Formats: sequence, structure tokens, C-alpha cells
Amino acid sequence: MIATESGIFARYQQRTPGSARLFEQARGLFPGGVTHIGRHMAPHPIYVSHAAGSRKWDVDGNEYTDYFGGHGALLLGHNHAAVMAAVQAQLGRGVHYGASHELEIEWAELIREMIPCAQKVRFTVTGTEATMLAIRLARAHTGKPKVVRFGGHFHGWHDHVAFPEGGAPGILPEVTEGMLICPPNDLGRLEETLRTREDIAAVILEPTGATFGQIPTVPGFLQGLRDLTARHGVLLIFDEVICGFRCSPGGAQGFYGVMPDLTTLAKLVAGGLPGAAVVGRREILDQIGHSADGKPPKVPHQGTYNAVPLSAAAGIATLKIVRDSDIIARANQTAAELRRRMNGVLRERGSSWCVYGDFSVFHVYVNLDGDAVTPEDIAQGRVAWTKLKGRAPARLLQEIRAGFLCGGVDTVGWPGGLVSGVHTAEDVDRTVAAFADLVDELTQTDRK
Ligand SMILES: Cc1ncc(COP(=O)(O)O)c(C=O)c1O
Repeated sequence: MIATESGIFARYQQRTPGSARLFEQARGLFPGGVTHIGRHMAPHPIYVSHAAGSRKWDVDGNEYTDYFGGHGALLLGHNHAAVMAAVQAQLGRGVHYGASHELEIEWAELIREMIPCAQKVRFTVTGTEATMLAIRLARAHTGKPKVVRFGGHFHGWHDHVAFPEGGAPGILPEVTEGMLICPPNDLGRLEETLRTREDIAAVILEPTGATFGQIPTVPGFLQGLRDLTARHGVLLIFDEVICGFRCSPGGAQGFYGVMPDLTTLAKLVAGGLPGAAVVGRREILDQIGHSADGKPPKVPHQGTYNAVPLSAAAGIATLKIVRDSDIIARANQTAAELRRRMNGVLRERGSSWCVYGDFSVFHVYVNLDGDAVTPEDIAQGRVAWTKLKGRAPARLLQEIRAGFLCGGVDTVGWPGGLVSGVHTAEDVDRTVAAFADLVDELTQTDRK
């Protein structure tokens, strides 16, 4: 089912003339006309004027059910009253003291209470900085140069993680050589790598699997990985930038009961404002602190915006709601309902696509081979990981995204969506209807 000539782009253009005009202006300013690679879309992106709860509105007055969710940061939806009140209260007291303050302590104490491995905390501003620091800490602690990561897993855009097998322009070959890329879910291969090499500092992964489970981690893999890394004296880093505080208040490690040595957190940790953290074992984190007798840190780490009070205020308000309410369960239920009903749409139409995922996400598997695939097949690792991510033609992905937007739904482009705890039954109905329309349109196109 490959769309070639559907009318989706034409309808999209008709609905969004104001966004088209702004994009023309933006093209002369920004590379590709956008400020993040994920905001690129054909024929142009939407320009959003405001947002509230589960919805956002573009400059042409179109309303959308939002599953971009601030790149996953907004489990509580847009403008949650408690978060807004905390940020507004802090605004009146100053946005940057260039000094230590009480909120950073309250924020770190909450994180330590919630995340099992968090003996110590260091705030950064982005998830990218957090994974870069975690890798640096692991190398410094073990004195070993290499770090293992897994194919498809995303850890931000710094030089150690932002390249596929074979490297990328602008990244030094010496840097790429410091990273070993293994296939996901392959404990045998990893076992062989760890057994035959003495130079590995750490293994880093998204514990729920690449891109919040687009390539899911198969049952038992995390515990197997923990056992293996412990046996070989290799550190285990969970990148919980997206899954932390979505799987459980204790993150994926709390949910699965597997304890890493280090964890990276971002997105939800700062309640939708810029903010991130590296947490983990005391002696590993302490490498970035002065010693009790005043010796300078073994590992350097700075950052103008680390733990700024506005982010601390938003983070504290958000984490308290995650800890004390059923917001995670509500988001999970809505996502499960979406997956179930979207699969119903596909079944009714005899489509071989599949909607899958766990927790508060849905992924659409655009089944290019047309073979029979169930969500369970994907969860159990019976579909090759190379089919699940990065294989669908860009044009088809763009048409899916634009088709959803025409139906009043903003999704992420992989394709899929990040569900919040405030999405409503009406949002679900709208999403299922938009999905049915776009599947019909793409299927009819295919038949032409
Ligand atoms: C698992 C994971 N790690 C790291 C990052 C990078 O975080 P940031 O965009 O804040 O740099 C992301 C961002 O989506 C992510 O999902």
C-alpha cells in the first residue's frame, strides 16, 4: 500500500494558507525552513498559535488533537494548571540567579525518591547533553574507551551517538570508533562482544526499545543485559529521556525492576521546559564534583542553564503529579484504546498495517511487505528490527502525517503518537476517524 497520487497534500494546502505563508518566510531564515529536523514536513509544516490540554491550534484556526506532545514532554498535556502556577510564581522571583537555590534541591530530592538508581543527580539542559555526560562519566570511571549502543536507538545528536553504522559527515572517525553498534535484542552477540574485548566502558540503550518501543525491547532482554554487564564489569546506562516517568513514576527501571548504573532523564523531568539530568551511582557522579578537601573535579562539566529555577519549578510540579496521581495509567489506557480501535480500522479494510506499542505511545507499522503481522509479533521480536524503523518511504510518511492533520490530528512522523493523561474520548474518536479516512484515501490511491 504505497501512496503516490492521493489528494491529501492538496487538501492540506487548502486548509493551511497561513502556515504556507509563514513557511515561505522561514525558508530564507532556517536551513530547510524549520528549527528541528522532526518539524520538517511536505509541503510545509503547520504554524501553531496556541495550545491547551490535549489540543493545539494553528494560525489558520484549525484545531488539532496533539500527539506530538512537546516531543514527548507533555504527559500532563499543555498548560497544566499546577505547572503554570508554579512557573508563574517563579517568574516573579527571577529566571536565573547564577547561584544555588532551594528549588534545585527539592527537584533533585523528588527525582532521587522516584528513580531507583538515583543516588546522585546532575542537571543538564537537554537529553543530548545528558547522554553525552553519561558516556563521559562511564569512560572516566572505568578508564575504558568503548561504549556499546544499539541499532535504531536514539540518544540525541552529539558526536558519540548521532551516526549510523559507517559514520556521518562532520563526525571524526576516531569518535565513531569509540562506539560499537550492536543489533537490538541480540544478547548472544553482545555476550560475545563483552567476552572477547577488555576495552568496553558501558552499554547504553533506551530500555523500552528504540524510540519508545518502535523497536521494542523483547521480554527478558533487560535482565539478561544487566546480568551480562555486571558479570563483565561494564556499566549499564538507561537512556530514559523519553520513557522515564511514562512507564512508571520510577521509569522503566522501576517498572521492570532492573537497576542500571546511570540513567539519563529529560522531557517530563522538567515539565515541558528545558531541563534534563544524569542520575546514578554516587561514586560515578561524584567524578564531576570537587572532593571534600577541595580538589577539582576529575571530570569537567559546566552549563549556563543547568537547573535554572523556572525549569526546576515546572519539573517539581510535574513530578509530584506523576508520583501522586493516576496520570500515567490514564495515558496508558487511552493509548491502548487508540491502538485497539486503529487496528480495528485496519482489520475492517483488510490492511496489513499494524498499530502497536506499550505504555503511552502508538506506533504505526507501515507493512511494506504485506505479510501478516500482529502487535504481539512485534512485541516478541518476530519482526526484523530493520523493518520497524527507518524503512518506509519519506513520501508515504509525509502523506500519513498530512492526512492526520487534515483530520484534525497532529502525530509524530515515524509515524505514531505520544499520548497524554488528558486526551479525551472525543480525541480518540477524532483520531480513529482521521486514521480511517487516511487509510481509505491511501488504499484507494493504491488501487488506481
Ligand atoms: C531516548 C532519547 N534520548 C535522547 C534524546 C535527546 O534529547 P534532547 O532532544 O533533549 O537533546 C531524546 C530526544 O527525543 C530521546 O528520545
